[in-house]
Amino acid sequence: MIDEMTTVLEPAPLPDFVETKYVKDITNRAFSYIKAGFPVHFRGPSGTGKTTLAMHLASKIERPVVMIHGDEEFSTSDLVGGEHGYRIRKVVDRFISSVLKTEEDMVKRWVDNRLTVACKYGFTLIYDEFTRSRPEANNILLSILQEKMMDLPVGRGGEEPYLRVDPDFTAIFTSNPEEYAGVHRSQDALRDRMVTMDLDHFDYDTEVAVTQAKSKLSRQDSQIIVNIVRGLRESGKCEFAPTVRGCIMIAKTLKAQKLTPSKSSSTFMQMCKDILASETSRVGSKTNQDRVKEIVRELVAKELGIGKTIDVGEKAAESIAAIETVDSKKEKKESESLAGVPG
Ligand SMILES: Nc1ncnc2c1ncn2[C@@H]1O[C@H](COP(=O)(O)OP(=O)(O)OP(=O)(O)O)[C@@H](O)[C@H]1O
Ligand SMILES: [Mg+2]
Repeated sequence: MIDEMTTVLEPAPLPDFVETKYVKDITNRAFSYIKAGFPVHFRGPSGTGKTTLAMHLASKIERPVVMIHGDEEFSTSDLVGGEHGYRIRKVVDRFISSVLKTEEDMVKRWVDNRLTVACKYGFTLIYDEFTRSRPEANNILLSILQEKMMDLPVGRGGEEPYLRVDPDFTAIFTSNPEEYAGVHRSQDALRDRMVTMDLDHFDYDTEVAVTQAKSKLSRQDSQIIVNIVRGLRESGKCEFAPTVRGCIMIAKTLKAQKLTPSKSSSTFMQMCKDILASETSRVGSKTNQDRVKEIVRELVAKELGIGKTIDVGEKAAESIAAIETVDSKKEKKESESLAGVPG
């Protein structure tokens, strides 16, 4: 029986999941490594869709899923299990009805943690941000991935000191690059046992499709937002590049307020400045924020065609001039015909 303390997820398709060519390509490649028996590791900057892709891939494997989030405080027992409290067993002897005999005993209770559950039942393990856990806590994974054996700590009881990993067990890992704060360098030995796929920010079509799917804003409005965010990203002037999360936040806020970028340009401008300055600076340096806000102002103005009033003005001036020419010709003709009228 699976321990009631372990959360096992059904492999279900994700709501609002967008499958563009870009997403399909990564998923298919990853799936082929999984089918060949190799764990897959999605590595990339924040907001590149690693966790979502891992969950999508897991749903395609069609086995129940257990998920672990890497944590600095993790020890091996957090992954494998440990003795957690006591279980009280009560036996009521109903045969001797006159004497109600109860017997109580306490046994130390071993609770299998998620990794053990996944290995034992052949589930799919998603180990999200696994490099946030200290390398020693992750050592247990070496024998699981290589020898398909899991060493069990003493105390678990049972038959053997190790657990044979079920052949259906698969693992999907995600991690941020090593320069991120709070991230440990993953051991070479562990990385050698998995196929690492480096992800970058989405391509344009996927970024627009994700923004649209998550916010239910129109495609055109989603494009405007994505153009601004990509423009800021490509400027290379941010402490942290803005991600699709920025696009989703702006789009959802607009939708919630029933606004569109063109009909409420000043609110939209402020929203973009707030959200993108917040997403791209972690320490809150004012110089950085001001620089980001200035770039955002230019990008929003460009997208909404603000500042093109001079062009419109010139066009208007040209048409006024044209009308004047017609009028003066008309006046000339009139005066000529008047001149012909005998006074
Ligand atoms: N294919 C997709 N379809 C729909 N939404 C998606 C898709 N991929 C990513 N998203 C959305 O984009 C956002 C970022 O994705 P996700 O959280 O998976 O990124 P991440 O790489 O795991 O980021 P982090 O490193 O910060 O954990 C989320 O809001 C997610 O719902
Ligand atoms: Mg993630």
